[in-house]
Amino acid sequence: MIKDAQPAHPIHDLIAKRWSPYCYDPRPVEPEKLESCLEAARWAASSYNEQPWTYILATREDQPEFSKLLGCLLEANQFWAQHAGVLMLGVISTTFSKNGKPNRVALHDLGLSAGNICLQATAVGLSVHQMAGVDLEKAREVYSIPDTHVVATAIAIGYAASPDASDPQLAERDRASRGRKPLAEFVYKGQWGKTAFPG
Ligand SMILES: Cc1cc2nc3c(=O)[nH]c(=O)nc-3n(C[C@H](O)[C@H](O)[C@H](O)COP(=O)(O)O)c2cc1C
Repeated sequence: MIKDAQPAHPIHDLIAKRWSPYCYDPRPVEPEKLESCLEAARWAASSYNEQPWTYILATREDQPEFSKLLGCLLEANQFWAQHAGVLMLGVISTTFSKNGKPNRVALHDLGLSAGNICLQATAVGLSVHQMAGVDLEKAREVYSIPDTHVVATAIAIGYAASPDASDPQLAERDRASRGRKPLAEFVYKGQWGKTAFPG
């Protein structure tokens, strides 16, 4: 299904083509494609090059691990994410390794690396759906995540399925149109609340 953004200004094709499907075809993701996505994550920028992200990975081929990770998602997300080829948890280290000081931008950096995953996945014909809906405490317990780290998000990667062949509720979500705030609403100039792009 094509669900490209309708940009008001020209943007790169990969950005326009990326979207977050709910209908996934349970076919496995090729290891080399997955490795490219993770390599893209690796090359994200980060504050002091700290690379504060860690991903915990489970692939459909390894059913016990896949179920384990699926079980860490909130139920509403389990419903559709069970069909994806790959599931990951995104975890951040909350302090800088060189001095132990708090890294207040670790979540930002995780987001950058996840953004790279999204674009690399799009480039190789995969789709990504990110999730805040994670049972954070369960994930910590299941994977013995130390308290130096915080579970932030989950990511599903796989092949989008045709909504026609999927659950009607999920299909409806995938068929819904995409919207965004105009630049005028979120770019300010001079002072808070003063748009940089007046009509
Ligand atoms: C950090 C983050 C958390 C999200 N959490 C969820 C989630 O828990 N469940 C869900 O169905 N979608 C989730 N989404 C997907 C968003 O709803 C989706 O990206 C947004 O509606 C824009 O749609 P698009 O990605 O297709 O452009 C999340 C996206 C991001 C970036």
